Amino acid sequence: MSDKYCVFGNPIGHSKSPIIHSAFARQTRQDIQYTATLAPVEGFADAVASFIVSGGRGANVTVPFKQDAFQLVTRLTPRAELAGASNTLVFEGDEIIGDNTDGVGLLRDIMVNLGFPIAGRRILLLGAGGAARGVIGPLLEQHPQSMTIANRTTTRAAALAEHFAHLGPVSGCGYNELSGRSFDIVIDATSAALSGTMQALPAGTFAPGSLAYEMMYGRGETPFQRVARNQGAAMISDGLGMLVEQAAESFFVWRSVRPDCAPVMELLRGS
Ligand code: ATR
Repeated sequence: MSDKYCVFGNPIGHSKSPIIHSAFARQTRQDIQYTATLAPVEGFADAVASFIVSGGRGANVTVPFKQDAFQLVTRLTPRAELAGASNTLVFEGDEIIGDNTDGVGLLRDIMVNLGFPIAGRRILLLGAGGAARGVIGPLLEQHPQSMTIANRTTTRAAALAEHFAHLGPVSGCGYNELSGRSFDIVIDATSAALSGTMQALPAGTFAPGSLAYEMMYGRGETPFQRVARNQGAAMISDGLGMLVEQAAESFFVWRSVRPDCAPVMELLRGS
C-alpha cells in the first residue's frame, strides 16, 4: 500500500500541493499517495488524529492552520521554532514532529533559481503576519545589509523586528516611513493579494536592478506585482518557485530524496 500524506487547509480546493507531490513521487519513483484534506476551522486536531489512525505518515499545513499545527506538535525542529509556525508534520510513533520549510523554499528560489544574492542587500519585507514571520530568520541568516519590515499596523512590525533583532540588522516601520528609501529585494508577505488592494509604496522603493517577490502565488498579477512593474523592478517573481521549493523540502523531510523542482515548475506553468 502507498504511504499516505496530505495537506490540511480551509479552504483547500485551490491547493497545488497534490499536483506537486504527485509529480515529485513519479519523478523519484516513491510510492506515495498525497491528497488535499478540508479540515473544519475548529477541527484541525481531530482531522490530524483521524489521518494518523488511517495510516498517515506526514502532512502539510496551510491557511489557517499553521499556528494550530505549532500548538499540536510534540516536538519542533529548530527552524519551526524560529518561525513560530509549522507547515510540515511528520508522524512517527506517538510523536508529531513540526517542521517549517517555507524559509528554505524562499531562499532557494531567490538564491539558486533566480540567482539573486541576499548577502549585503537591503531587504524590504511587507507584512508582519505569519507568512512574514516564517521567513525573517532564514533571510537574516544570509547576512543582508539591512532588513526593514513595513506593516499597515506599525506596532506589529516593530514587535516582530524586536523579536528577531538578535539575528541581524532588522527594524520595523509603517509604510509612511518608506519615503526616500530604496531596496534591492522587496518581498510581499501580506495577504493584500486576497483583498485586491495594498498600501501605496513611495516612488523609488525599488532600487535599480531590484527583485520584487510575491509570496502569495496563484492570483494572477497581484497589486504588489503591478506596483513593482510600474516602478521598474528588474525582476518580478510570482512565488511559484517558493511554492515548489518548500514542497520539495517537505518531500525531502519525509522521503530523504530531493526531487528536481525545475520540471515541476514547468508543469505548473503549463497547467
Ligand atoms: P498571514 O499568516 O498570511 O501572514 P496574517 O497573520 O493575517 O496572515 O497577516 C496578514 C498580513 O497582511 C498583515 O501584516 C496585514 O497587515 P496588518 O497587520 O496591518 O493587518 C497585511 N495586510 C492584509 N491586507 C493588507 C492590505 N490590503 N494592505 C496592506 N497590508 C495588508
